[in-house]
Amino acid sequence: METQRSSFSGKIGFVLACAGSAVGLGNIWRFPYLAAKYGGGIFLLVYLILAITFGFALMVCEIAIGRKTGLSAIGAFKTLDKRFTLVGYLGAIVPMIILPYYCVIGGWVIKYLFGFISGQGTKIAGDSYFGNYIGDASEPFVWFFIFLALTAVIVMLGVQKGIEKVSKIMMPVLVILIVFIATYTIITMDGALGGVVYYFKPDFSKFSIMTVVAAMGQLFYSMSLAMGIMITFGSYMKKDVSIEKSVRHIEIFDTGIAFLAGLMIIPAVFAFSNGDEAALAQKGAGLMFETLPKVFETMPGGSVIGAVFFIMVFFAALTSSISLTETVVSVLQDKLKLKRYSACVSVLILSLILGTLSVFGYSIWSSFKILGLQFLDFFDFISNNILMPVGAFLTCVMVGYFIKPVSIIEEVELNGKFKEKKLFSVMVRYIAPLCLMVILISSVLDVFGVIKI
Ligand code: PHE
Repeated sequence: METQRSSFSGKIGFVLACAGSAVGLGNIWRFPYLAAKYGGGIFLLVYLILAITFGFALMVCEIAIGRKTGLSAIGAFKTLDKRFTLVGYLGAIVPMIILPYYCVIGGWVIKYLFGFISGQGTKIAGDSYFGNYIGDASEPFVWFFIFLALTAVIVMLGVQKGIEKVSKIMMPVLVILIVFIATYTIITMDGALGGVVYYFKPDFSKFSIMTVVAAMGQLFYSMSLAMGIMITFGSYMKKDVSIEKSVRHIEIFDTGIAFLAGLMIIPAVFAFSNGDEAALAQKGAGLMFETLPKVFETMPGGSVIGAVFFIMVFFAALTSSISLTETVVSVLQDKLKLKRYSACVSVLILSLILGTLSVFGYSIWSSFKILGLQFLDFFDFISNNILMPVGAFLTCVMVGYFIKPVSIIEEVELNGKFKEKKLFSVMVRYIAPLCLMVILISSVLDVFGVIKI
């Protein structure tokens, strides 16, 4: 039986709901460490170019597909072209791979949050604190489990709306705080300006295909693309809301916060490492957790600021993990006809298993590597650099050559002119599929060590 689909109240409601899913650890934790690793300014430039061309086209596609069919990913692809149903399933697997390790990092955030609340700021700012913490064989598991269970319970009880309300109030505060921390660092710390230059000035000698691979993966991740989420959101969107304008706003939100997070973290790393660029490139997933506590330590009232900061990051992460869980749960409900409760429990158990690998990949199983990667990095790689590009490629092929761009354009034009129509068509037909192919091939060859890029 068809049930009435609920819909967002209007443009603001739609943009904010998408932003709740899009803005999360991807912006605050992942973007800055990738920017640091892949050459600063050049990464930023490549990312921005991709966001306004490729990211724009793909997000328009997904939202329009959702609104046109009124269905979530699997059903939507099936309705548009049966041969592409697989893309819907592919999209459904991705959040199941991301969710577990997302909760591992969410667990790190809770740990830091309580650390600052209980006045351990100085200890946390210590040099080897983060490394020792994730190398511990028990505590990170507990926090990971708490974050995961919290997400599952919220989805099970269907109280996401309440959380989203809180997070909507938190988001502007988070932005103000990020701006404040960035300004404080740049003004008061010696050497931070070097980091600003590193972040803004593209050094073309640092460009490689890997810069594009990393930026593209980050784009998918950060904007919650290529995994059916935006299709689902689109299916709830009213016909009188402009898709083009909404996408622009979501992009500005999402990219703006990522940009500011980079500005908050990279100059600080620079100041602490005395401008050593090589140190920047080596830092990985721990960058935010190692650098920010040091900044808070130098601030008057730093413990309080640290606590407030991590509370807000926690909420941003929670709304994203909720949307990841919600996607998987709704697929299980639709396809396996599971009850909501059983679907939530299944996701919980599966995430527990996969997440445990990621947690212990830093401690007791640290010698175990897949393709030379630790579990967490492996899950990150497989979803962002393989599955999402494959999904995006097939989406572009379907829209570009089977259902044709015009079918998407028509949907967008239900509310007036589609200004970037040309850009959109050229992107989905030619540039995006080509780039995606190159990227896929290079990242596979790279990880198998065939080429070093
Ligand atoms: N976009 C979220 C972030 O930046 C992560 C996420 C990915 C959320 C996919 C939902 C789906 O943190």
